Amino acid sequence: MKAFNDLADFSNEEIASLIALADRLDKNPEPEALKGKVLSLLFLSPSLRTLASFQAAMTRLGGGSFVISPEMSIHGIESRPGIVMDGAAAEHIREAIPVIASYGDAIGIRAFAERKSLEADMQEKEFRALTDLVDTPYINMESAMNHPCQSLADWKTMNDLSVPANGGKFVLSWAYHPRPLPLAVPTATLHMAAKRGMDVTVLRPEGFELPEALMQKAAAAAEASGGSVRETAQRTEAMEGAHIIYAKSWSSTRHYGDKLADEKLREQHIDWCVDEPWFANAKDECRFMHCLPVRRGVVVADEILDGPRSVVIPEARNRMLAQMAVLHQMLGN
Ligand code: CP
Repeated sequence: MKAFNDLADFSNEEIASLIALADRLDKNPEPEALKGKVLSLLFLSPSLRTLASFQAAMTRLGGGSFVISPEMSIHGIESRPGIVMDGAAAEHIREAIPVIASYGDAIGIRAFAERKSLEADMQEKEFRALTDLVDTPYINMESAMNHPCQSLADWKTMNDLSVPANGGKFVLSWAYHPRPLPLAVPTATLHMAAKRGMDVTVLRPEGFELPEALMQKAAAAAEASGGSVRETAQRTEAMEGAHIIYAKSWSSTRHYGDKLADEKLREQHIDWCVDEPWFANAKDECRFMHCLPVRRGVVVADEILDGPRSVVIPEARNRMLAQMAVLHQMLGN
């Protein structure tokens, strides 16, 4: 495996095989599988789970890892092309990334969306510029429009819960958050559930529609797997018979890159906080998923997060297991 960048690059059989490997490594540890291997981890954006789970995954497989992030005591990093570096930054990303990559056998890179231009973010311009600088295998640890490690873990979490693929009803719901957040998780989650063959409903207020090209990509994946994709602003209709509600906040696509206009619109939807009444016409066993971190009392009520519907902790643990499977395939003999 040369890259783990998008679940769309893998067939459903290959994904099933990765998940089977994750299950096997959980039950039968292989503490020497990646002995002597090193994973470089470059975090240009913050993290708790991704950072900790990749380090834990490498250690459990007998390898090692190191982390570089701008918050550490490193030289200031410049990323603009063609810049005259007479300011504070002493190092350019064009040297920093190949050097970091050269110390490892593979590299994981996290770089959130710039959120200035929807078009540029959808083309993954920044992330591509970074991965073009490395010649080792690489892992997307969250880019502008993707989070494949989260999606693989989420797919596994639904398998663990015996949530049906075909016939399973998946609601991806926008939730209120005081700040505009990237589209990476909702985009990746939409595609993952569609590719799994589920009937996916994107529940969101007007102005928060997911980009048409991404809806079409998900619809094509759903069609190939026997599922479906649709969008609505009607909560009761969306939640009818739902097996899963996956909550996430994201930026207004109508006002992408315009913080003030986005804020003005989102403030009208402060009541989009997932709570028990949302589940009135869902399946009794309907579960709550979220990639974390999550704001309590803002995105979701404590009652849900602390109650039997929530699977956020096993979901987060599955990040480590899913990534162990990816690393095993990428770096194992
Ligand atoms: N879900 C997720 O990627 O968490 P972190 O941002 O903490 O890594």
